[in-house]
Amino acid sequence: MIIPARIIEKKRDKKELTSEEIRDFVQGLSTGEVTDYQATAWLMAVYLNGMSFKETVALTEAMLRSGEQYSLKHIPGVKVDKHSTGGVGDKVSLILAPLAAACGLKVPMMSGRGLGHSGGTLDKLESISGFNVKLSKSEFESVLERVGCAMIGQTDAIAPADKKLYALRDVTGTVECIPLIVASILSKKLAEGCEGLVLDVKVGNGAFMKNKPQAKILARTLVLVGRQMGLKCRALISSMDQPLGYAVGNSLEMIESIEILKSENLEKHYLGEDLFSCDLKELTLQLCAQMLEIGKLVPNLNAGRKLASEKLADGSAYRKFLELVEAQGGSRAQVENPLKLPLAPQVVQWKVKRKGYLSKIHTDTIGQLLIELGGGRRRASDSVDPSVGFLLHKKLGARLIPGDPLVTVYASPQTDLKEMEKAFQSALEVSASRKPVPKLLVDAVTK
Ligand code: URA
Repeated sequence: MIIPARIIEKKRDKKELTSEEIRDFVQGLSTGEVTDYQATAWLMAVYLNGMSFKETVALTEAMLRSGEQYSLKHIPGVKVDKHSTGGVGDKVSLILAPLAAACGLKVPMMSGRGLGHSGGTLDKLESISGFNVKLSKSEFESVLERVGCAMIGQTDAIAPADKKLYALRDVTGTVECIPLIVASILSKKLAEGCEGLVLDVKVGNGAFMKNKPQAKILARTLVLVGRQMGLKCRALISSMDQPLGYAVGNSLEMIESIEILKSENLEKHYLGEDLFSCDLKELTLQLCAQMLEIGKLVPNLNAGRKLASEKLADGSAYRKFLELVEAQGGSRAQVENPLKLPLAPQVVQWKVKRKGYLSKIHTDTIGQLLIELGGGRRRASDSVDPSVGFLLHKKLGARLIPGDPLVTVYASPQTDLKEMEKAFQSALEVSASRKPVPKLLVDAVTK
């Protein structure tokens, strides 16, 4: 018989919990023996006092076992997935899943929705009308087998303990906690049945981990716990000190991703400007190379990058994306003509006001402003407007000349953009001389 108060007290007093105590506490979440207020007290104790490696493994295992586990062994091919710890403008999965599939991997991708200031792949996919992210298990397996990749959301049956704890963490200030993040991510990834996993751990002012030492600990813990549980696992640490690419907002991010898949410059068509996203493409290729090496489809990373570049350039990844969209009920016409995706009618270009160089972007503020436009969620139950967002014209290090285009904002007609422009301008810092731009790839945990 579990006594939740004793387990909370033990963690409060900085003692190590046994695997059985952790298992019983997590089981108690679904039986009702552990109430929400006890769970939140325990989460805060974990947030403040941390967990040992052994405790983190036990928590991951207990959360995994709280629900259904897919086995994809009957589907031929090596199944490798990628997961990002979350950021602003991070649309890598939209390009990477079809690209890795075009290179020969099977990519069973279970993604999340936007929460807090960070965006979510599912919301981006749903900007395509009809795209169904709620496939049944058999539909998911069938799309994966036929197309080579499938992109769905966490079902109620997968790691329900994570669903419950994540919702509580989101409203109790306990999200940014390494053992809780590790157990949350890995329980879902292990349940989905992949054999290999490449993690993109974000670091910077738009990420959960604000500095490199923290990000490195998160990356190492994810990799070590994943391996302990039988997953082939490695991590890249990449910069989130500015939005990835130029687009922030669901339809706009989909347009930018299709642009990379088609190797076309769509913004040029509707902005008359050259905004091809080098950082987005570069990170996608690096992650794909890691996935291909983990899956043993290539002998080394150079060969992986070469194969990925070829499959992107020759249109194979784009064709794979079209197949995926059709298989999951989405509109082929919108992919073929992405400017048919929903775009809000109030389109305003804000101009550069201060002369100098763009030296800092408060990336989390840009994510918050997207929520204010209606493109993100305050609560998990909120719906999102896919048509709104920002298209940046400048990235870090850019020379700023007053009057030049700074950002194009897409908003609903009733949005008052005056205050928002002020907030947006204050999220950018300008310096007289050009400061070094943070490196896109900060570190890696591969060995
Ligand atoms: N993504 C998750 O799935 N869980 C976390 O705790 C953080 C990011």
